[in-house]
Amino acid sequence: MKVWDLPTRLFHWLMLLTVGFSWWSAEIGHMDWHTRSGIAALILLVFRLIWGVIGSSTARFANFVRAPAAVFAHLRRPGNAIHTPGHNPLGGYSVVAMLLALAAQVGTGLFAVDVDGIESGPLSYLVSFDQGRTAAAVHHISFSVLQVLVVLHVLAIIYYRIRGRRLVMPMLTGRDGQVAARFGSLTGGGPLRAFIALAVALLLGWWISAGAPL
Ligand code: HEM
Ligand code: HEM
Repeated sequence: MKVWDLPTRLFHWLMLLTVGFSWWSAEIGHMDWHTRSGIAALILLVFRLIWGVIGSSTARFANFVRAPAAVFAHLRRPGNAIHTPGHNPLGGYSVVAMLLALAAQVGTGLFAVDVDGIESGPLSYLVSFDQGRTAAAVHHISFSVLQVLVVLHVLAIIYYRIRGRRLVMPMLTGRDGQVAARFGSLTGGGPLRAFIALAVALLLGWWISAGAPL
């Protein structure tokens, strides 16, 4: 049973690499590389946001961002969602939280200025030095938030594994043999839409990295 399309899977594993590389490059002070990988994170994020609207069924926000009541119902009877495709109601909110944290990380990075004002995001020239320093401070805080969310994310995946549900292989291969046949495969998406989403994301990334000239 196909549960994740290729674009969603590529987004996921490339984002993991990009976040890791961004962290490492900032730690060792390779800020030119940090800016490049930060822009790559921006492109991936924009792609995922568009894909959440025009992508295939399990990638769409409308299909996994559910009313809070659905989350409480899920918490009362978690077994109900255990062999269904896509994110369960609680998992849906964890995805939203991670995407918001990534948006905060990327958004503040674009305006961030370091102490001596030398290493700066491509949009920092639009704000004052103090505002750029505030962006850098929030950039540090949002990274801690992101780290906490990712730890919870991995713990949740381990928890599901202990309960007998394997989630990592489906995120790698797209297929999940544990999903009941009655749910059918995912629908929608497709290469043309993926190409359009990627083209928009690349253009936006290029424009922002050039300082968003008008
Ligand atoms: C996945 C996205 C990102 C992650 C995980 C990330 C992570 C980090 C971390 C951990 C630091 C602190 C390094 C330290 O002082 O120890 C940092 C600093 C910085 N980042 Fe990012 N970053 C990301 C995206 C971006 C983007 C998109 C830009 C701009 C294009 C950017 C620009 C900067 C700048 C200018 C600093 C220096 C701020 C300062 O010295 O206080 N970052 N980043
Ligand atoms: C920087 C680190 C990570 C970030 C930012 C991240 C983010 C995300 C996001 C946003 C999703 C939702 C997928 C979508 O609909 O687009 C997701 C799903 C998933 N991630 Fe991660 N992830 C990270 C690390 C990991 C690691 C290390 C693993 C492996 C243990 C992992 C395994 C998975 C799996 C299996 C899913 C699918 C969960 C499900 O079936 O509902 N992730 N991740």
